[in-house]
Amino acid sequence: MAAFFIPAGYVQGQPAKDNSNEYRNGMVVCAYPDAALAGLNVLKKGGNAVDAAVAVQFALAVTLPEAGNIGGGGFMVYRPAKGAANTLDFREKAPGAASQNMYLDSAGNVIPAMSLSTHRASGVPGSVDGMVEAHRKYGRLKWEELVQPAIDLARGGFKITKRLAEDLNRNGADFRRLNEGKNYLIKDTPWQQGDLLVQEDLAKTLEQIRDKGRAGFYEGEVAEELVGEMQNGKGLISRTDLKNYHSVWRKALTGSYKGYKIITMPPPSSGGIALLQLLQSVEKYPLSRWGFNRDSTVQLLVEAERRVYADRSKYLGDPDFYKVPTDSLLRPAYNRLRMSSFSWDMATASASIQPGTFAGYESDQTTHYSIVDRQGNAVAITTTLNGSFGSKIFVRRGGFLLNNEMDDFSSKPGVPNMFGLVGGKANSIQPGKRMLSSMTPTIIEKDGKLFMVVGTPGGSTIITSVFQTILNVIEFNQNMQQAVESKRFHHQWLPDVVYIEQTAIDSLARVKLEQKGYKIVEGGPSGRVDAILKTKSGYYEGGADPRGDDTKLGW
Ligand code: GLY
Repeated sequence: MAAFFIPAGYVQGQPAKDNSNEYRNGMVVCAYPDAALAGLNVLKKGGNAVDAAVAVQFALAVTLPEAGNIGGGGFMVYRPAKGAANTLDFREKAPGAASQNMYLDSAGNVIPAMSLSTHRASGVPGSVDGMVEAHRKYGRLKWEELVQPAIDLARGGFKITKRLAEDLNRNGADFRRLNEGKNYLIKDTPWQQGDLLVQEDLAKTLEQIRDKGRAGFYEGEVAEELVGEMQNGKGLISRTDLKNYHSVWRKALTGSYKGYKIITMPPPSSGGIALLQLLQSVEKYPLSRWGFNRDSTVQLLVEAERRVYADRSKYLGDPDFYKVPTDSLLRPAYNRLRMSSFSWDMATASASIQPGTFAGYESDQTTHYSIVDRQGNAVAITTTLNGSFGSKIFVRRGGFLLNNEMDDFSSKPGVPNMFGLVGGKANSIQPGKRMLSSMTPTIIEKDGKLFMVVGTPGGSTIITSVFQTILNVIEFNQNMQQAVESKRFHHQWLPDVVYIEQTAIDSLARVKLEQKGYKIVEGGPSGRVDAILKTKSGYYEGGADPRGDDTKLGW
């Protein structure tokens, strides 16, 4: 085995600041430096992009406990250098004992926080099966070699960044309140940058996964710990739920924008359909002439976002349970028609916009990583526990956190979830169903060749962040790092508000928009986009989001 490679200037406990754009052989961009390093080392010893993705996923489960996970789920979009693109759905599923009204009290009201911070908030985890399945189909190196770096990080410990120290300190009280006894994220004195985080229980769980593959998680000791935890806390996940969990290969969703081919995630993600609808809605307008975040650009994008999120609320859900009208939603004439109802003179009121109708229809947190390898194979994976640190409930002795993904279902029609998103029948709770997601891992081609790999966390803002990052490159000529760093804004139909990051819009544009009736609310950072662009000269250019500890490493 090749010696472990550490790039010059790399300092543990700090995001790597590698701005070289001279890499031709491969690149990893992800949310934590040690995980990026694990992925880069896999690429350097001959692993392909899927091998590196497996190493990154498990390394993030150790180094980014708020979102990296083995107790959650996600989506992979894969574009091989040769052959057809594919997607893997390893989204969590509702347990077999789940039911439509499980979060309602006897008066039919949603019980606050029940879908967020209780044992019943968790869906059946999909990440381990997803990695096993991705590796079985496309991996080249041995499975053990890909899980081992995460075991080493968990057992030997790693130096934490300032941001992780702050996140752990902020959540310490919740970890204590929601869990019995001690666990490795709880410390008597405040965490500080550079502290060593050691996770022996997690190392042992990862060893089971290394040695037994999916059986190391869905059966045996780890499964027993997980089911025991559920029984202690009145949770629903059973041995049968774990044994029966399987990820699903789904045909990639494709569309186009001004000659670029967009390859993205189909339902149960809403992200792919919404992204393609948004691109169709704005395609005929001269965005590059108007300019980045000018008032006309912002107005147009907001009006498109308003309409597309209205459709999301009604028509999107798990396609294994609900007939999603994908073809109708992606008809260019439909999206053009939707945009015809807006006026340049004033904001459309969301109350006046309903989900569209079309003939023939019956009816901090997630994390993303982008990887390319020497052959040009590309992987975009977005994976999540849903809320930051998921339900904040640990599987004791298993050393890992459980997701609170059940909140992504619609607990009751019209009642917003933690991201303010509303839904109805399409996304109602049913046993074995996957909750609707906004995760939008996406790969873009130009002239049949790889162009961009992109995705982000951010709940409901994922879709608009990916949309705006793509436009930043294609319309506004920004390089990958600029496109990722550029300030973003977001509208999701309800509430009828334009959220902007600080300084996203200059005061002139803001006044013009407010005069037209747009309610603008300034908020915190939106998303952490991690992306790779293949330049005309054949080099990979990374974009690692400075909103987090995101790191790009190439060779
Ligand atoms: N849990 C966030 C999402 O999947 O959209």
